[in-house]
Amino acid sequence: MGIRHFIDLDSIDTKTLRQILDAAHAMKRAGKRTPLKHRPKGIKDAVLAMVFEKPSTRTRLSFDVAMRQLGGQTIPLNHTDLQLGRGESIADTARVLSRYIDVIMIRANAHETVMELARHASVPVINGLTEKSHPCQVMADLLTFEEFKGPLKGRAVAWIGDGNNVAASWMHAAVKFGFSLRIACPAELRPETSVISWVKREKGDVVITDDPVKAVRGVDCVVTDTWVSMGQTDAAHRKQLLKPYAVGNELMAKAGKDAIFMHCLPAYRGHEVSAEVIDGPHSVVFDEAENRLHAQKAILAWCLGGG
Ligand code: CP
Ligand code: NVA
Repeated sequence: MGIRHFIDLDSIDTKTLRQILDAAHAMKRAGKRTPLKHRPKGIKDAVLAMVFEKPSTRTRLSFDVAMRQLGGQTIPLNHTDLQLGRGESIADTARVLSRYIDVIMIRANAHETVMELARHASVPVINGLTEKSHPCQVMADLLTFEEFKGPLKGRAVAWIGDGNNVAASWMHAAVKFGFSLRIACPAELRPETSVISWVKREKGDVVITDDPVKAVRGVDCVVTDTWVSMGQTDAAHRKQLLKPYAVGNELMAKAGKDAIFMHCLPAYRGHEVSAEVIDGPHSVVFDEAENRLHAQKAILAWCLGGG
């Protein structure tokens, strides 16, 4: 069996992703002290290294707690703590870390850094967000969707706003889990062509429009994200382009009855979402944040040979 990297949802088969999501449901039901049957073999001696090139609240905390609740240990690292920050190669860093560590989670500025790390590591590498994708977030989002709305297959989700890294992982998920995704974004901020082409090749049900009202009609779930992602410098221009894509009560009312609202957080009230929506009855954003913990326990268990 090859090394179980968790880098992007498009490169993991549906059966495996479904198993990880089922395990995430089970992890949540099992609670804080993960029962033996859900723990991967040897977890007691396993160490997770977490490398951050960008800030993080949820990813940092939820991975740390997830590994502890599984029975393993963690080492959080800022990239400037490592020689990586002084120019040591990613390849050498990967080879060295692999001699001490059992699984590596990295939040990187460049997706290529994660790919390079995985090419040279002899232990699993987990993508904790890059400029291109955020697969751990979307696994938690899928768990949240199923908790509130039931099985994903055949359902409809609207993504409103920037066609960013989180949107790309949602596109991967739509294909793998067989649901319909409607993306409303300005033409300039559409998802990357490579992801759109992949969806087409896979015959996924993903529609891209510039009309948020059209996108939300009848959907089970409305999702948005910050208008300015980490590392982006053209904030004023983006905010101008994205103004018509703010999610407010009026837009939520056009979604399906009892539609849920999700946002990966951090959120900026009064920009991409109104306070009424994110703090209102449709919002499940804090369940979604909690679910990072349960989803990542399942991802870690899979990476370490479980399932
Ligand atoms: N949603 C998310 O990844 O949050 P952090 O940036 O706080 O990790
Ligand atoms: N799109 C956001 C997500 C933050 C969790 C970013 O990349 O900054």
